[in-house]
Amino acid sequence: MTTDAFTAGQRSTSDNRQRAPHSYQGPELILDLAAVRQQAKRFAKALPRVRPHYAVKANPHPEILKCLKQLGINFEIASLGELHALQQLGVPGCNIIFSNPIKPPESIRAAWDYQIQWYAFDNLDELKRLHKHAPNGKYELRITTDDKDAIWPLNSKFGADPQSAEELLCYAAQHRLNIAGIAFHVGSQCLNPQSWNNAIQRSLELFQRMHELGLKPKLLNLGGGFPTRVTDKVPTIEAIGTELRHLLDAIPSDIDIVAEPGRFLVASAGTLHCQIISTAVRQHQPWAYLDCGYYSGLIEMNEPFGFMLNSEREGPTQEWVIAGPTCDALDRFTPLYQLPIGSQAGDRLSIAHTGAYCSSCACEFNGFSPPRIIIIDSERLADNDSDKAPAQTGLCTVLSV
Ligand SMILES: Cc1ncc(COP(=O)(O)O)c(C=O)c1O
Repeated sequence: MTTDAFTAGQRSTSDNRQRAPHSYQGPELILDLAAVRQQAKRFAKALPRVRPHYAVKANPHPEILKCLKQLGINFEIASLGELHALQQLGVPGCNIIFSNPIKPPESIRAAWDYQIQWYAFDNLDELKRLHKHAPNGKYELRITTDDKDAIWPLNSKFGADPQSAEELLCYAAQHRLNIAGIAFHVGSQCLNPQSWNNAIQRSLELFQRMHELGLKPKLLNLGGGFPTRVTDKVPTIEAIGTELRHLLDAIPSDIDIVAEPGRFLVASAGTLHCQIISTAVRQHQPWAYLDCGYYSGLIEMNEPFGFMLNSEREGPTQEWVIAGPTCDALDRFTPLYQLPIGSQAGDRLSIAHTGAYCSSCACEFNGFSPPRIIIIDSERLADNDSDKAPAQTGLCTVLSV
């Protein structure tokens, strides 16, 4: 039986609150490896034809990468820094896809030296650069897709439109460049399974065109976008798998199908703990200033993901403007959030589903530190008798602080 990530996320919030009996030392992001394992299992079951390459950008913490490597998950990188993180863990190049469509020459050369085979591109300049620095690599053409149903759209920056795709395929055929795959990204936290189906249909048309031009398609890359179930309106991975299965099953078996899930694998593993520093009333609206904000990990709270602030204070709630601790006006969120009436400085809050794009997007602007990361494994109960047991909390083993 699969556990619904929505309920899992809600439960982990209260569990993690119990897991933090120590005195408060500033914002903390608790990451539970058991939840990562559960999400990987669900993905494999829902999309059995699809090989996941974890998008390192979602959360590059070494313990997360190690956990995914142990599960046999492959990786997707965007930069030399992400390549180095995987090299340190001994992930072989053949298990890595380099999917940033824009790459400096030295990154391409380092990836090629490490025997990475697959490289994304979406323009002629990059295709020529790939041919120069990874001459025998396999290139995947990233195309634009409709991302209107994603909370975090990406297609305004990347992807070849239909005309450019045709020109790039013709150029590759003429110059014997090895375009062998089609890739797309439906936007992060995509709420509509039909977005993948439309993009897959378009990719199949391009495979047909590649055959006509003498290019041999070998890879379909479904990208990321698989959502974390912040609210019960978000489709489950099982529902997405059911919607996609018919189309995926019809794809010839000599085409490898991969995806690059980031958020789906790690978001529900994370719960951020923070605190209200101060409150104010501005134009009749209550404001709460937190010790963690836009710059220190909560960038996504500025979008309508549906995150909830769980307060230790009980009682009826009202809408609050939420702001972070820095002096910048950007450090305040557009959506309003529910907090108990009478919330005060010192109230502790927790926010579930913050395992993705929280710590990886945090910086030290204005001297406020990013949240401290605590790695736990709720499936590995603390062994109180062992001399070697690491620091322990009430319910599980803390693996890394
Ligand atoms: C190329 C690429 N692949 C995968 C991902 C991961 O997307 P998600 O976290 O929505 O699964 C991203 C996110 O920006 C991306 O740019």
